[in-house]
Amino acid sequence: MKHIFKEGESLDSPTLLLLHGTGGTEEDLLPLVDYIDPTANVLSVRGNVSENGMPRYFKRLAEGVFDEEDLIFRTKELYEFLDQAAKDYGFDRQNVIAVGYSNGANIAGSLLFHYQDSLRAASLHHPMVPRRGIDLPDLSGKGVFIAAGTNDPICPAQESEDLKAILSGAGADVKLHWESQGHQLNLGEIKAAQDWYQQLD
Ligand code: MLT
Repeated sequence: MKHIFKEGESLDSPTLLLLHGTGGTEEDLLPLVDYIDPTANVLSVRGNVSENGMPRYFKRLAEGVFDEEDLIFRTKELYEFLDQAAKDYGFDRQNVIAVGYSNGANIAGSLLFHYQDSLRAASLHHPMVPRRGIDLPDLSGKGVFIAAGTNDPICPAQESEDLKAILSGAGADVKLHWESQGHQLNLGEIKAAQDWYQQLD
């Protein structure tokens, strides 16, 4: 997958996996690293799917309606890419923390939904529930931060509450943070993500 890798203070540091929104690129979320953890390694990946030229991580049938078959396939593809990137660059595969926005938050959520050892933790900005009606792996010990907007037209408040309940039900330690705004990523939620990150075990 097209990506950027930047080594941080040490290869043993956490690795931030940056996942952009629809139409974004692997450059988009790089400025967040300075807020969240400037000492971390960074692996920023571009989505492999193109929707009319806009990169995404998986196909959708309509806005908010995911192509589940493709979501499963692309989640596996990203999971395997992470395994390979850890071997190629030498970072600690057990210490990968996702930071995803919108479609990027959705594929990060899907990694958690499908693979127990995919991520150590995840900061999900304006995510949806990636799939419903499936059994999740045991996510005990995983920290998840969800940033949601009270007037997000793409992601109704109930969707964020459902995601929190599903992840908590699988054992994850979930913090749901609200901003009175829509689907955009704002500084308030980035600072809240920074606080959450600093309290991770
Ligand atoms: C998605 O398709 O992942 C969500 O609707 C968010 C978006 O990318 O617009």
